[in-house]
Amino acid sequence: MTTNRSLPILAPAAKPTDRLGRPLRDLRISVTDRCNFRCIYCMPREVFGPGFEFLGRSELLTFEEVARLARIFAGLGVVKLRITGGEPLLRRDIEELVRMLAATPEIEELTMTTNGSLLAPKARMLREAGLDRITVSLDALDDAVFRAMSDVPIPVARVLEGIEAAGEAGLGPVKVNMVVKRGVNEDQIVPLARHFRGSGHILRFIEFMDVGTTNGWRLDDVVPAREIRERLEACGGLEALRPNYPGEVATRYRWADGGGELGIIHSVSHPFCSSCTRARLTANGELYTCLFGARGHDLRALLRSDADDATVAGAIRAIWAARTDRYSELRSEATEGLARVEMSRIGG
Ligand code: GTP
Ligand code: 5AD
Ligand code: SF4
Ligand code: SF4
Repeated sequence: MTTNRSLPILAPAAKPTDRLGRPLRDLRISVTDRCNFRCIYCMPREVFGPGFEFLGRSELLTFEEVARLARIFAGLGVVKLRITGGEPLLRRDIEELVRMLAATPEIEELTMTTNGSLLAPKARMLREAGLDRITVSLDALDDAVFRAMSDVPIPVARVLEGIEAAGEAGLGPVKVNMVVKRGVNEDQIVPLARHFRGSGHILRFIEFMDVGTTNGWRLDDVVPAREIRERLEACGGLEALRPNYPGEVATRYRWADGGGELGIIHSVSHPFCSSCTRARLTANGELYTCLFGARGHDLRALLRSDADDATVAGAIRAIWAARTDRYSELRSEATEGLARVEMSRIGG
């Protein structure tokens, strides 16, 4: 009688962890480096003006290539996908990509980060295509301050309509991200908090970060999380909430009176690199293992060679296994002057 006892048991290859023991759980996919805003902290107009060379169409990964990579990443442990930009709603037929990504096995959550200006007419379609949730950036409630941050003549009302439409379409709770820059929009912390209190949406304040090399970042421009919290407490009691999952970037609070949840993302004053499980893919197929990476790994060339999925997976596994990034924890002279990818390329 034959037995199969001597056959090797082919266990699926273990999911990779990096050099600091961090698994690969999230993939943030930028689908374009273009944006219809020129936020001063991300795409300052002096740099991203008419002469700026954005990626050309043939440089962008196709939807098929993105979906293939997403399946490969899911096999390596990724359970969350986030579509970003630039502004992802500028990418034509983006709902097709949403549909393809939503069909990726093992993905627990598919989300998108957008500036909200093009969202209202598209929210339902995105939901129907399989998007689970959405995050909208909004830096002020006052039009003049909003314009000082976004550098475009788009009214706040349009973004608010996008947020409401997303909520109605079932994409909520909508997370609303406010980047706080000292002296520019810090006076909007309380008005935005009041606006979203009781709305069911979750407002999150983000410390201005030194991403890229064009936004002229100075530590003095950062309003630290502690100060943001103090300003909020002046208009109502806050209770700390436990993280939804290990490594969540926002510290969560709720209004003591039942007005709902808010969050503060303190990557400057209190970095969270030790639990960072995020990989980032640029629209032209470069893999970055840190928001502050100096260079990416070219996955597009590999995809466009005749490499099979196992070969691509092996390359990603090796990149992740070698990862040592913890930029925000090191932020100091050690990181000063280093080359850094721009936020609009890597999608935040
Ligand atoms: P969920 O809370 O799960 O919806 O995801 P998220 O918090 O990652 O959402 P989002 O993309 O809105 O992230 C919020 C912001 O936190 C980003 O836009 C960045 O400004 C910042 N952030 C997110 N991930 C990182 C990171 O890995 N490093 C640093 N330094 N900042 C990050
Ligand atoms: N610092 C902090 N957050 C930033 N974002 C873009 N640039 C910066 C920066 N320099 C945020 C956007 C958006 C997300 C993609 O990243 O406001 O919410
Ligand atoms: Fe565009 Fe978002 Fe960058 Fe603003 S932060 S310029 S909306 S990509
Ligand atoms: Fe992750 Fe880099 Fe951000 Fe640290 S600085 S949390 S390693 S992306």
